Amino acid sequence: MRGCSLNSKKPHLLRGRVLTFSAEPADGDDLASYSYIEDGALLIDDGVIIAQGDYDSVIAQAGDAAVTDHRPHLLMAGFIDTHLHFPQVQVIASWGAKLLDWLNNYTFPAEARYAEPAHCNAMASALYDLIISHGTTTAVAYCSVHSTSVDAFFDEASRRNMRMIGGKVLMDRNAPDNLQDTPQSGYDDSKTLIAKWHGKGRAHYAITPRFAITSSPQQLEATGTLVAEHPDCYVQTHLSENHDEIAFTAELYPQARDYLDIYQSYGLLSAKTLLGHCIYLQSREIDALAETGARAVFCPTSNLFLGSGLFDYEGLRRRDVVTAVATDIGGGTSYSMLQTLAEGYKVLQLQNQKIHPLQAFYWITRGNAVALGLEAKIGTLDVGSEADIVVLNAASTPAMALRMETVSTLSEELFVLSIMGDDRAIEQVYIAGNAAKRV
Ligand code: GUN
Ligand code: ZN
Repeated sequence: MRGCSLNSKKPHLLRGRVLTFSAEPADGDDLASYSYIEDGALLIDDGVIIAQGDYDSVIAQAGDAAVTDHRPHLLMAGFIDTHLHFPQVQVIASWGAKLLDWLNNYTFPAEARYAEPAHCNAMASALYDLIISHGTTTAVAYCSVHSTSVDAFFDEASRRNMRMIGGKVLMDRNAPDNLQDTPQSGYDDSKTLIAKWHGKGRAHYAITPRFAITSSPQQLEATGTLVAEHPDCYVQTHLSENHDEIAFTAELYPQARDYLDIYQSYGLLSAKTLLGHCIYLQSREIDALAETGARAVFCPTSNLFLGSGLFDYEGLRRRDVVTAVATDIGGGTSYSMLQTLAEGYKVLQLQNQKIHPLQAFYWITRGNAVALGLEAKIGTLDVGSEADIVVLNAASTPAMALRMETVSTLSEELFVLSIMGDDRAIEQVYIAGNAAKRV
């Protein structure tokens, strides 16, 4: 990297190969869905992209802007992770269990430590260092049941000026006593946290009933009230991830038509709703997702690690379900959205399905932004977008450099990045225009 270092007080120009999407590519030949400029530039002022195009045309508007030359690397919108668990940063790589045992044996004990503010603060700092170093500039997180974890999560986001989404998990049964709230306290704490954080700076609140197993009907009822009172908040929960989970859920809610019907009957479904996993869905549930606009979130590294199953990407898209993609740390095994794409590709291969590299990079940028209704702010390098940017190097390891010797197209380069890339491929990250990766 050559040139001056960033000064956020005056305009800043980034030079490099600029790739951004305006729509989901129908296939690899859909040139209208993206813009790719070999010698491109972005002009940033006050955290926002104010010009974008050929270097020659942007430099002509740049006045005395500082210039950082990232050639020959790619500039793209920062990656968006639509599902992770903040209190699970020390749960990753826990051996030998499927979902329900994994929750009981590893996850709940780790989450209990988030009653301590000092632990929350230390882990929040670690989480943000990790996601940034992997190229993620926005994430949607489950915090623990404790308000302290939500405060730490948003305090750290605010310190780093990041657009982050999160919320306190609601759970009033089937968990250790020290991890349970009640329908009333969960409602009250969520309301207090929404008032404190939602819309403050770049923060958004997600109302977060963990899943039907850990919420009583009374709690889901109170959650429905919260959602009705705060329609501009997100809602996130888990759906149909694992056979034992689905069977236990059916025992707990015998009157429900299916798993999704539980959430639907309490008024939790809309285009603001993110449903993690969605692996074993019945036809009615797929129709209900399409009708309500609720998003199905694919978590490939988690689904493989926990042996949960294969997400039916093509089947859901054919039925007009909006999908998103995510790490699901710490059931997931990598903070990298590139590695997430790699495992996603393999999950699709096992089902004779395909995703083109252009579609894959659309998904982790603009596609996930669309799933969050935030594409006017993040997920693109359009003029007016917030300057959350990732700089990618497809030859960042010896193995990648060797493979890149034979690569001649952008699509091939993107595929190498998605299959072989990880945090080493992330040269730099800008958050609201400020260089943020610690090297
Ligand atoms: N279902 C309910 N809680 C969780 C969790 O923390 N991780 C995963 N993967 N699934 C869940
Ligand atoms: Zn999850």
